[in-house]
Amino acid sequence: MGAHVTSAPPPAAVVVLAAGQGTRMRSAVPKMLHEVGGRSLVGHVVAASRSLDPERLAVVVRHQGEAVADHVLALAPETVIVDQDEIPGTGRAVQCAMAELDARALAAAAAEGIPEGQEGRGAGRGLAGAVVVVAGDTPLVDGDVLADLLAAHHAEASAVTVLTTVVEDSTGYGRIVRDHSTGDVVRIVEHKDATEVEREIREINSSIYVFDAAVLRDALGSLGSDNAQGEVYLPDVLEIARDAGGAVRAVVAPDPMTVEGVNDRRQLAALGAEMNRRVLDRWMAAGVTVVDPATTWIDVDVDLAQDVTILPGTQLHGATKVATGAVIGPDTTLTDVEVGLNATVVRTHGSLAVIREGASVGPFAFLRPGTDLGKNGKIGTFVETKNAEIGEGSKVPHLSYVGDATIGEHTNVGAASITVNYDGVKKHRTVIGSHARTGADNMFVAPVTVGDGAYTAAGSVIRRDVPSGALGVSAGSQRNIEGWVARRRPGTAAAEAATAALAGDTEDGATSVLGAQAQAEHAGRTAAAAAAADKPTPPPPSPGVATLDGLSEGPDAR
Ligand code: UD1
Ligand code: CA
Repeated sequence: MGAHVTSAPPPAAVVVLAAGQGTRMRSAVPKMLHEVGGRSLVGHVVAASRSLDPERLAVVVRHQGEAVADHVLALAPETVIVDQDEIPGTGRAVQCAMAELDARALAAAAAEGIPEGQEGRGAGRGLAGAVVVVAGDTPLVDGDVLADLLAAHHAEASAVTVLTTVVEDSTGYGRIVRDHSTGDVVRIVEHKDATEVEREIREINSSIYVFDAAVLRDALGSLGSDNAQGEVYLPDVLEIARDAGGAVRAVVAPDPMTVEGVNDRRQLAALGAEMNRRVLDRWMAAGVTVVDPATTWIDVDVDLAQDVTILPGTQLHGATKVATGAVIGPDTTLTDVEVGLNATVVRTHGSLAVIREGASVGPFAFLRPGTDLGKNGKIGTFVETKNAEIGEGSKVPHLSYVGDATIGEHTNVGAASITVNYDGVKKHRTVIGSHARTGADNMFVAPVTVGDGAYTAAGSVIRRDVPSGALGVSAGSQRNIEGWVARRRPGTAAAEAATAALAGDTEDGATSVLGAQAQAEHAGRTAAAAAAADKPTPPPPSPGVATLDGLSEGPDAR
């Protein structure tokens, strides 16, 4: 999150502790893989660690280690995965990591031809330089926090530097016991091992440290597990290092939230909210309008341009990217969606879609993966799209499903239309050209193509290709069976209304509710209609043949 002035040589290694059980989460999912801000807990720590550009990055796993290891390797392929054995504790985790890192440093030195035991980087007993250790469950820690700690460690030539913070309620944490004359750290005492007096201490261990590699290696060698939890405690290294004559110092993080760990779901929610607050704060500072921060959630990897407006109830997830002038929301959730300049997206749920410059989406649209809406295009109300390329200026305004389709430019898809893409076994594509006008309530039975400048009639089931410039019609012509309601639904309100209307027609033609066309038909067909009453409608004319009776003489088929 922005450049920082402090600088120190990159550490020899960063060790991320991710082998804990996470019992308090009460979850089948390893604690490290729970997410805040659209990224796993360990993912946040790995990102912060990588920003230090360490020579080696190690992540210690054990509980459901394979899932955590796979996840970490996907994020940072250079990671050295270390397996912690059955001995529990943060100290044991670092013992396992150092054994592995030392072995690698020695192997690398040997490969470079530096004789074992000789002074110099990578030679001697293994790793040399600074080793940063971070718990994998502190998602708000960022690269700046780690860089500042590392800088302080180097500036004071300390043996160990621990990041601490002061909290209101220090229950459960390791307490920092200081030497009051020098301010140096004497030791860290875990809550369960602390005396009543020690429990009053409100300065706590964050589980983030910088160690000199040699000091760490020596101290790890004399760690025990004679404590309330029977675990090998990493914090015990501090007392051992001090007793050996090293300078053990603390840096206090001003904001406890920054170093707070997630142990249960309450902390997961609290830190998720804090992360969101920070992300929104950063975007508002960068020129984004967030109308209601309380109902707006933005993941850490989202990218917003200046003068984007986010309306209430909006969630932007994953790698969503929004260009200048776009307005998102209200009540919109986008995951991995790209939104172009000045586009508007209202009450929409979308993922893996592209909405190009000036386009409009919603309200109530569902954009599924592979949707690509062209410049100034429109996906309107109650429309679902999937694998659909909708060209520049083309519109799907109302109540439609467009899946596995390619639509050209400046085409209008009539309301309530469906691409029938699934034959029960396979999916097929619908292709509609440019400047086409398809009628309302069409079914495009894929695979099917409608050419450039073609029209289709309302209510058509388009099973065969419609050539460019043609009108595709599959609906039969309409037949009105006069007097049907009076005969077959006598006594109903409909029948009474019809009778009254027809009586009005005969008495006073000027008040007719029928249009000119219907009146002409009515006059011409009254006698024939009575004869035809109740007989089934004849089969519709086959599509594509010139039998457009009713269409050719009447108003536009659409
Ligand atoms: C730890 C510290 C405590 C500190 C607190 C800050 C110890 C003994 N205590 O306590 O001083 O105030 O963090 O949040 O270190 N882990 C392993 N292997 C293990 C056990 C833990 O890798 O065998 C990892 C966990 O995955 C986690 C981190 O170490 O990322 C801390 O473990 P956790 O059990 O949460 O320690 P706390 O009890 O919180
Ligand atoms: Ca913890």
